[in-house]
Amino acid sequence: MNPPDQETSLEQRARRRIKDSHALGGDPGRLAQFYRGWASSYDLDVGRNGYWGPMIVAELAAAVQTAYLARHRAATAILDAGCGTGLVGAELESLGFRVIDGFDLSEDMVEKARQTRVYRHVQGAIDLNRLPSEYFNASYDITVCCGVFTLGHVGPDGLRDLARVTRPNGFVIASIRKSYAEATSFDGQVRHLQEQGVLIPAQCLRNGRYAADEDAHYWVFQVPEKESVPTDERP
Ligand SMILES: C[S@@+](CC[C@H](N)C(=O)[O-])C[C@H]1O[C@@H](n2cnc3c(N)ncnc32)[C@H](O)[C@@H]1O
Repeated sequence: MNPPDQETSLEQRARRRIKDSHALGGDPGRLAQFYRGWASSYDLDVGRNGYWGPMIVAELAAAVQTAYLARHRAATAILDAGCGTGLVGAELESLGFRVIDGFDLSEDMVEKARQTRVYRHVQGAIDLNRLPSEYFNASYDITVCCGVFTLGHVGPDGLRDLARVTRPNGFVIASIRKSYAEATSFDGQVRHLQEQGVLIPAQCLRNGRYAADEDAHYWVFQVPEKESVPTDERP
């Protein structure tokens, strides 16, 4: 196989992987197994096709920190939810963040993230939909989530737990693939969460560059001072 042919077949394989990842039905077992097989080539595959999500999410976190947070950037506590191999952590670190924690469902993806050495703590086998209680005491200044609100992964309700791990007046920043936004009526879900006092939408960059196959919306939410719905009354 000559190099251009080889390049084309690698690009095709990468595109197929990305497409296959959208058909996992949100099942934690299937997701973990799928990412076990993808961890070693994930960075190359997404890079091959162009992946701007991590840079944009990190730059939004930097802008939010400068605009709204009293705490110095190097002391701002950030949680990278669904950190994967650590692409967002690397971007955050290059922008001056130093207190970066991460978690992911996939142990294998997290092992890659650990190797970047940009995370303070990074933990695998953590399901965003079933977070251990220690996360709810953590009170991060900013929680970022890139590439997770995507078809076959996590439903919009995952935003509730991102709000719970973030301190009052802190921020949640998430990329939302366009196809996912349409399939889940994401704007309606956001209105619902706002009505319930879970999150306040602060900004949205619509139709931003995300990956070669599709754009995304980038949402910035603020966590209200006091949630109006008591924990035990939440669905
Ligand atoms: C497309 S990758 C994005 C990884 C990284 N944030 C990035 O932008 O490169 C999606 C990640 O979400 C993780 N994931 C999927 N469902 C999850 C869940 N329920 N809880 C935690 N992580 C999950 C996967 O293991 C995978 O690492």
